[in-house]
Amino acid sequence: MKKEHLADYVLSIPDFPEKGIIFRDITSLIQDPDGLKDSVDGLIHSLKGIDFDLVIGLESRGFIFGTAIAYEMHKGFVPVRKKGKLPRETVSVAYDLEYGKAEVEIHKDAIQKGMKVVIVDDLIATGGTLEAACKLVEKLGGEVVKISVVMELAGLEGRKKLAGYELESLICYEGK
Ligand code: PRP
Ligand code: MG
Repeated sequence: MKKEHLADYVLSIPDFPEKGIIFRDITSLIQDPDGLKDSVDGLIHSLKGIDFDLVIGLESRGFIFGTAIAYEMHKGFVPVRKKGKLPRETVSVAYDLEYGKAEVEIHKDAIQKGMKVVIVDDLIATGGTLEAACKLVEKLGGEVVKISVVMELAGLEGRKKLAGYELESLICYEGK
């Protein structure tokens, strides 16, 4: 049965992956045909009136939504991947996680100078992943014209890291 709100499809799992964290699980959203359709349609709606050349999706959950949008809007899709997965020449950006470090990469020839790109992911938490993706785009001379995500954990204030970018989330959780 179709649910009233998009957030109703997302299961919240307490103490995963560690104690004190509430994991917002999109697998319950995307396994439901209406949940999948409404979330993809919502992201597409967030891009209304935006002129752009391609969609960038962040490994791995951003691939699910990013490719669906790119297909529907007849744009190309470019993956930002975790270090060591892309076979050709890449540029990379390292960033801090709560514990430790991470590094993401993009193919060097994926973006031409002046291209307008949209970045898609499932979730903004601290904003570190999206910030790194913006840096990758800019290293290659692209312009981030919009960031669209399904969920935002407002309590982690990731949005602050991305001040200056247009960022839209479909579901906003007040906490962490
Ligand atoms: C999760 C989520 C976002 C990112 C958000 O990805 O899918 O990409 O964390 O966190 P941040 O805003 O604090 O950077 P994760 O790296 O856990 O892996 P996955 O997408 O491969 O599951
Ligand atoms: Mg992710």
